Amino acid sequence: MADKKLEKLISELRGKDKIKVLFVCLGNICRSPAADGIMRALVDERGDAGRWVIDSAGTGGWHVGDLPDKRMRVHGARRGLRFDHICRQVKEGDFDDFDMIIGMDSGNLRDLHRLAPTPEAEDKIVAMADFFNPGAVYDHVPDPYYDGAQGFETVLDLLQDATLNLYERLTPST
Ligand code: 4NP
Repeated sequence: MADKKLEKLISELRGKDKIKVLFVCLGNICRSPAADGIMRALVDERGDAGRWVIDSAGTGGWHVGDLPDKRMRVHGARRGLRFDHICRQVKEGDFDDFDMIIGMDSGNLRDLHRLAPTPEAEDKIVAMADFFNPGAVYDHVPDPYYDGAQGFETVLDLLQDATLNLYERLTPST
């Protein structure tokens, strides 16, 4: 998303009592349920869970009803994180129900723009990479599904940094 549009969305949301974010990837069994679980743990830890509605979904429907991929759950558990989201597919109503819809890679973002019913709905779509640390090596969250263990660790590192930056940018007192 262009910097100006992103800044506008962030400044609108910073003033709100409730913030509703939806993390989106392709399968909704690796990256987005991990982002969802990391973000929930973070807002809990900060005593701020009441301000946030957090969910995740996939653009594809192959794994609907499933728990996250076992490998992602194992890698998360090693960091003290629990991922227990039940997979679901993105639906048109999500563009009404959420304030910010966060895609993990360029394919997810392209699919979200295609699914968005109105230009206002499209304005809610942002990239997870918009919240990476400055100087990050990646410009997206890489799909770990066909990778080994290192792929899952890389995803968790990127998501832990990005969710923290997202939280801080949307929290007035930080
Ligand atoms: P995710 O990873 O998008 O991070 O959940 C994937 C999971 C499953 C598939 C692709 C990506 N799949 O093709 O089944």
